[in-house]
Amino acid sequence: MKFKIFAVKELNPQQRQQIAKLCFSAFDEDPWSQYLFMQTASHLVGILDGQIVSHALWTDRVFTINNSVKLKTAYVEYVTTDERMRGKGFASQLLRYLIDVLTRLEYELAALQPEDDHFYKKLGWTYWLGDLYIHQDNSTYLTNENKIMLYPLSIQFKDLLLNSTEHDTICTNWREGELW
Ligand SMILES: CC(C)(COP(=O)(O)OP(=O)(O)OC[C@H]1O[C@@H](n2cnc3c(N)ncnc32)[C@H](O)[C@@H]1OP(=O)(O)O)[C@@H](O)C(=O)NCCC(=O)NCCS
Repeated sequence: MKFKIFAVKELNPQQRQQIAKLCFSAFDEDPWSQYLFMQTASHLVGILDGQIVSHALWTDRVFTINNSVKLKTAYVEYVTTDERMRGKGFASQLLRYLIDVLTRLEYELAALQPEDDHFYKKLGWTYWLGDLYIHQDNSTYLTNENKIMLYPLSIQFKDLLLNSTEHDTICTNWREGELW
């Protein structure tokens, strides 16, 4: 499988169509139709015999840890493999490649809200055990109905992120749609 990265505007119509088909089949929606911020996403695709068989995207966020450290964060979504090609290790390969790419791009943290946490745990992602806050306008509110998993990319903050307790906090800016 070959990997390629595209900004949304770099996708040609055929690539857009292939990604939309994968995402519709897995999530009943394409990534772009609902929310404007998805126009700034970066797409990572896995290509086999000219077809996109596996896909993930990320958008940029800033996560503030314990009201002090601000981390450049890649928020990962729409992870999926073509239904006919699952169980062959493609999404695992894609996510390992994603971690390498994000590290090279100097992201300090990758984060996501898992549907299949077994899959992500095997790849080294861990749950954040602290509180999750959203900052909107002049207020900040708790959103603990959500659980996210993290993959620390900066060695400096690895211990803090991997050994979180219920006393730790992450805060990030509000966005449209799913907050996490
Ligand atoms: C979750 C998902 C992305 C996994 O994609 P995938 O390409 O099948 O993933 P992988 O093949 O890398 O890993 C899946 C399983 O196949 C196993 N596997 C890995 N390499 C394998 C190989 N060469 N042969 C057989 N099985 C293999 C993995 O160990 C894993 O097994 P597990 O169930 O014990 O974890 C895919 O099932 C999907 O698109 N689901 C719907 C959308 C979704 O839920 N996305 C996640 C959103 S958070």
